[in-house]
Amino acid sequence: MDNVIAIDGPGGAGKSTIARRLAEELGYIHLDTGAMYRAVTYAALQEGIDLNNKEALVKLTKSIEINFNKDGEIFLNSKNVSKEIRSSQVNKNVSKTAAVKGVREILVKKHQELAAKNKVVMDGRDITTVVLKEAEHKFYLTASIEERARRRFEEMKEKNKEANYEEIKENIARRDKLDSQREHSPLKIADDAVVIDSTELSIEEVVSKIKAIIEGA
Ligand code: DC
Repeated sequence: MDNVIAIDGPGGAGKSTIARRLAEELGYIHLDTGAMYRAVTYAALQEGIDLNNKEALVKLTKSIEINFNKDGEIFLNSKNVSKEIRSSQVNKNVSKTAAVKGVREILVKKHQELAAKNKVVMDGRDITTVVLKEAEHKFYLTASIEERARRRFEEMKEKNKEANYEEIKENIARRDKLDSQREHSPLKIADDAVVIDSTELSIEEVVSKIKAIIEGA
């Protein structure tokens, strides 16, 4: 499968930032698949749907329209929800939505359709193992939990949001566990993925490393 670059890894490892930069430099589109699970979760919270009600979540996923624009902003039924999907309410609940098989089936199909029509850098948790199993270029991007929590903490402080390092770290650890221990498409390292640990690397260094591998340097 040419023209697709698949990136998986735990939350806060820098996947989306790296994927966006790579896409810009290569002239590909970037698809942040986590944003789609977040949009479904946001829609469910808005509509007062019980997140333990799998059937209602699947029905909702079928009924909504999710789109991206060129700047990576995300639209739910034509409404820009780029900020809303990053709220702490969504952070807390998104693992539940992402664990529902029927929700995953619908979103995976959308991801595959997009990859069939475009040159794409796609990031998520199941891209290298399920969505784009045949991708020529697969990466697993990770970083220590302390570093991932530190980055999130700095990011929140920059936005003048209240932040507690220990709370952030606990939240990340909880999501790591839920994402990698769930029954359907858990986060794991594909046998043929290149593992990159970004704990001590800058964004530029990771992007260069990936580009060098893709270009066969
Ligand atoms: O990368 P993120 O934090 O925006 O992901 C949000 C949630 O969605 C997280 O719990 C993992 C899940 N997810 C998934 O199960 N499969 C994907 N392809 C992308 C994200």
